Amino acid sequence: MAWLRPAGLVIVAGTVLAGALGAVGTARVTSAAASAYLASSAPVVAPPTHADHIAPILYANCVPCHRPGQSAPFSLLSYDDARRRGQTIADVTARRYMPPWHAARAAGFVELRDERRLGDADIALIKAWVAADMPPGDLARAPKPPSYPVGWQLGIPDLILSLPAPIAVPAEGRDLYRNVTLRVDLPIDRAITAIDYQPTARSVVHHALFFVEPADVVVTDADIVPGLGRVLLQGRGRSAGARLGVADDAWGGLGGWVPGVTPRFFPDGIAQPMPKHSNIVMQLHLHPSGREEREDGKLALYFAQTPPQKSLTGVQVPPAFGFAIGLDIPPGETRYLLRDTFALPVDVEAYGARGHAHHLAREMKMVATLPDGTTRGLLWIQNWDFSWQDSYYFKAPLRLPKGTRLDVEIVYDNSTDNPRNPSTPPVRVRWGRESEDEMGSLTLLVTAPSAEDGRTLREAQAQHFREQLARRLRRQRG
Ligand code: HEC
Repeated sequence: MAWLRPAGLVIVAGTVLAGALGAVGTARVTSAAASAYLASSAPVVAPPTHADHIAPILYANCVPCHRPGQSAPFSLLSYDDARRRGQTIADVTARRYMPPWHAARAAGFVELRDERRLGDADIALIKAWVAADMPPGDLARAPKPPSYPVGWQLGIPDLILSLPAPIAVPAEGRDLYRNVTLRVDLPIDRAITAIDYQPTARSVVHHALFFVEPADVVVTDADIVPGLGRVLLQGRGRSAGARLGVADDAWGGLGGWVPGVTPRFFPDGIAQPMPKHSNIVMQLHLHPSGREEREDGKLALYFAQTPPQKSLTGVQVPPAFGFAIGLDIPPGETRYLLRDTFALPVDVEAYGARGHAHHLAREMKMVATLPDGTTRGLLWIQNWDFSWQDSYYFKAPLRLPKGTRLDVEIVYDNSTDNPRNPSTPPVRVRWGRESEDEMGSLTLLVTAPSAEDGRTLREAQAQHFREQLARRLRRQRG
């Protein structure tokens, strides 16, 4: 079979801990306990305690990252850890800054899998605990901290890849972005069913994104999205758009690793192509931790035993991260709007979505309007943060019939109100690949019913891109 170029993403965070904690651990169980506690009509309710109420919440929602050796700057395993930070914990949970999760839960929007989100009752419980001066309760009776598997969580990988050389991360200074090529170069086509990454310097690895690139292509750190530059260059001339419009070609993304992620196999027999003579390019975002570190992690690949039944394809709106739409954001502009619409030419099953933009983007939204006029929200990120580039998977795959319209809106804030604005004072920002430039798109991860439908889908995207580019060129001339 003709395997498509690699597309959509792959591993995503699990509900923090479900497996490790069993019954006590999941956020939902905790929430029920919390609701019962808060709803109690007893005239005098004893304040919540760490042992009975707070520890289970922290274990289920925080310690996947807040424990020694993980990404977060401090542990929340013990009563003392939690007490020392009590007030801050109450603040960050009330603001929903922690646990980090950027997809909004809103009426009309699809429910997402593995949501990292505290229930209102849990937040209220933490608040009440802090207000009562953080009583420990009977610590001897507190639930045991969760244990985590050692080694690869998904079992023995088919291929383990090492960095060509360790990366030195200085104690201080700007964040580093490194595009590292991990040599694979297999003589035959394979398909990836899962990817896992084990960093060695967990406190500095902010995220890792994975891409498949032809083995003969050299990717440098200057590529803000590996593969995009090549695709843009090759997109010129006669084949313009033909390559670019293929959203996956402009992304090549296999997904990523972020702190707290639980590796997963793709659902539903999905596997992502790893064509022969290709390598994995890993983009590491490294954040100095205050002391010198060396990152020398390992990447694990799991291959399908049989050719994949289906692969995820990205429907990127606008295509090529908005290259053809163009962006020109005046300094001081607080709500610069990028909009694009794409009609699906075939039926698809949608599994999830992700966004990409740089630092000026504030909000992004993708909404589907079905041929019968009903709408389904697919993804709404109200506080975009470049540092947490998650992919979001739907609780259940969503059938979107041919003719469904995908509407995307991305709002950019190029004023001093935007704390993430890389320039003070703000400057004019246009489309570009450097992190001070902007780009933006949302990508819906779908499977098409047949290879033929897959081709139709990609050709429609290419056509959409060509029309966009032609309009932009006309605007520039006229
Ligand atoms: C997915 C990983 C992850 C999870 C889950 C997580 N945190 Fe964090 N947390 C971080 C990282 C990384 C930082 C440091 C960077 C930052 O502040 O964004 C942090 C920072 C914090 C801070 C310091 C914020 C500040 O302003 O100084 C607090 C307090 C905190 N987390 C509490 C919590 C609590 C409470 C939970 C659970 C309800 C939680 N975190 C869940 C990763 C996580």
